[in-house]
Amino acid sequence: MADITVTEHLLLHQKLSPHATGQFTGLLYDLILSGKTIARHTGKAGLMDVLGGTGEVNVQGENVQKLDEIANRIMKYRMERCGALCAMGSEEEADIIRVRPEFPIGDYILIFDPLDGSTNIDVNIDVGTIFSIMRRPDGRKGEVETEDVLQKGSRQVGAGYILYGPSTMLVFSTGNGVHGFTLDPGVGEFLLSHPDMHLPVVGHTYSVNDGNWRNWSPATRKAVDWFRTGKASDGKSYSARYVGSLVADFHRTLIYGGIYMYPADTKKPEGKLRMMCEAFPLSYLAEQAGGKASDGRGRILDRTPGHLHARTPLFIGSKEDVETVERIYAEEGGA
Ligand code: AHG
Ligand code: MN
Ligand code: MN
Repeated sequence: MADITVTEHLLLHQKLSPHATGQFTGLLYDLILSGKTIARHTGKAGLMDVLGGTGEVNVQGENVQKLDEIANRIMKYRMERCGALCAMGSEEEADIIRVRPEFPIGDYILIFDPLDGSTNIDVNIDVGTIFSIMRRPDGRKGEVETEDVLQKGSRQVGAGYILYGPSTMLVFSTGNGVHGFTLDPGVGEFLLSHPDMHLPVVGHTYSVNDGNWRNWSPATRKAVDWFRTGKASDGKSYSARYVGSLVADFHRTLIYGGIYMYPADTKKPEGKLRMMCEAFPLSYLAEQAGGKASDGRGRILDRTPGHLHARTPLFIGSKEDVETVERIYAEEGGA
């Protein structure tokens, strides 16, 4: 088998894509290195004193796990030094993180969820790092302002995730389709294992936290019920799967098709998932793979966040399945 390393792949795509500059490729290298470093920590999680919470509550009002903090520190340290960024935004930090003047300042902005699914760490279930890359708007000079970061989802120039599962995988897109790489731990290199990933047009899996049923609107209940009882356009019925790590639930959806849903509910009227560090990057990947991502009314990537930690309902996956939810919401007069 001809092994293609991620380095070789990036260099090839740099040649093909007018947007991919050396600076951008350097950014991806350092992201990959950060991912490998985090993988080393998650891989030894049960052996070191890194399980459990720190006792702190983050900006989202959630308990911070020790590995959340370690992953956040690794990302900030490595990426501030990569030379391609002017600012970052992390799920774990209230404000934007400006690259300090002692480091080379670049044109890009990186938003990340350092460790997604962190409530699953203590039970050794898949977690991951999700990232979104934008350019600083043209003509903006001087200190980066929060407005420079609050860009419409469709302005992303790259996005992806590193999944720390039975094997460590890197899945990303820079606008030329979605490609998946698996880490060969022996050599420490990601090798192309899933070239040009495509979301099936319709799937047979729906994924939602059913424990939220009591808090859903009648329209949301109707939409979820459709998948419980309905049949896909090929006549097959649906199975339920829910890991509780968005990155893992999305990865399965990307490969097998189907739909992942995190609707709004009475306790979370804006939804739970973070627009910039979760919904935007995964929606970019879904579209690049021929799928769809919606907030129930329209395209996620057409949204512009009001603030760094804005939330959104998310329906993502196979085109037909996401359109089913949009149709039911439209018939019911909204979410
Ligand atoms: P994070 O660990 O980064 O805070 O994200 C948790 C998110 C996401 O990974 C997951 O799909 C969702 O929360 C699960 O929420 P519920 O426990 O409400 O189902
Ligand atoms: Mn998350
Ligand atoms: Mn997280």
